[in-house]
Amino acid sequence: MGLAIGIVGATGAVGQKIIEVIMERNLPISELRLFASEKSAGKTVKLDKYNKEVTVELLTEEVMKEKYDYLLFSAGGSISEKYAPIAAEAGNMVIDNSSHFRMNKDIPLVIPEVNSHVLKGYKGIVSNPNCSTIQMIVAIAPLYRKYGINRIVVSTYQAVSGSGYKAIEELQNQLRDKEYPNKVYTRKIAGNCIPHIDIFNENGFTKEELKMVYETHKILEDDTIEVNPTAVRIPVFYGHSESIYLELKEEVNINEIKKTLEESKGVIVEDDPKINRYPTPIEVENTDFTYVGRIRKDLYNPKGLSLWVVADNLRKGAATNAVQIVEAMENIKMEG
Ligand code: A2P
Repeated sequence: MGLAIGIVGATGAVGQKIIEVIMERNLPISELRLFASEKSAGKTVKLDKYNKEVTVELLTEEVMKEKYDYLLFSAGGSISEKYAPIAAEAGNMVIDNSSHFRMNKDIPLVIPEVNSHVLKGYKGIVSNPNCSTIQMIVAIAPLYRKYGINRIVVSTYQAVSGSGYKAIEELQNQLRDKEYPNKVYTRKIAGNCIPHIDIFNENGFTKEELKMVYETHKILEDDTIEVNPTAVRIPVFYGHSESIYLELKEEVNINEIKKTLEESKGVIVEDDPKINRYPTPIEVENTDFTYVGRIRKDLYNPKGLSLWVVADNLRKGAATNAVQIVEAMENIKMEG
């Protein structure tokens, strides 16, 4: 018996990746249904692996009330807000990629390598964290567990694919034509970098930055960590990068830290300055790992540590993490 899976927002940048990741990871599928708006309903999506075409269906309340093993949502917060509760009420497991339910205390926020224990015995909506949070936490959770963390100062360098297909097209068009107007972003993105992702909060931080603060606290179950993010959009198509500064609770021993990271689930250390070895977005495209390089000790603070962390935002930052949540739930079921 395979799994009945539905993807809401199946024609979007993340939705398409979810299909790709499900096919690659050999999830046993008995039924795959794809949902989108009237713009895409009726179009077909080819599943090469099964030599089959699936017709995209219109998302309605009725289809959400049918039975699925898992519904994966990636069509934006307002769609999740409206349809995810209907699907969950009908007894379906929902994995939601939007930020809408993330801070709800009754809804688990899960990175399988880090906190899959919260899924035990749970049924309903599960939230997939923000893309920038996911890669940061995969890299720092092992250090948090071993040494404790007082403070995180992080700057992100985020790819346009995080804003969906329209943003990918906007960058492509502006690279071809310097005069092409900006619609998705507040400024031209080609040849630029924009320190503004999601809306501004009264305290001067953006919502994207505050997601990194509060999601970190929720996933690590520790509100005492001081997180100071600056989130920046850059003209890269795929792959987010992050410069992360940590103040640990103990003195930094670089060799021990590298060893801890090398042994950590989901992490690949790419760090050798002698041969210019460090991760970059182009190199990590289409992978499911979080890559860490430029590991170095603060010149002044013995507890300070700097890292460069890169991951594919559409895969580990979104689609892969969601599919890994499905796998984690299935493993929990098998373990009884
Ligand atoms: P559609 O292709 O019909 O517009 P992206 O993040 O790349 O912009 O993709 C957003 C995804 O969410 C797309 O699959 C899009 O479908 C889907 N979507 C947007 N609005 C709705 C809606 N009202 N109902 C269902 N799906 C929607």
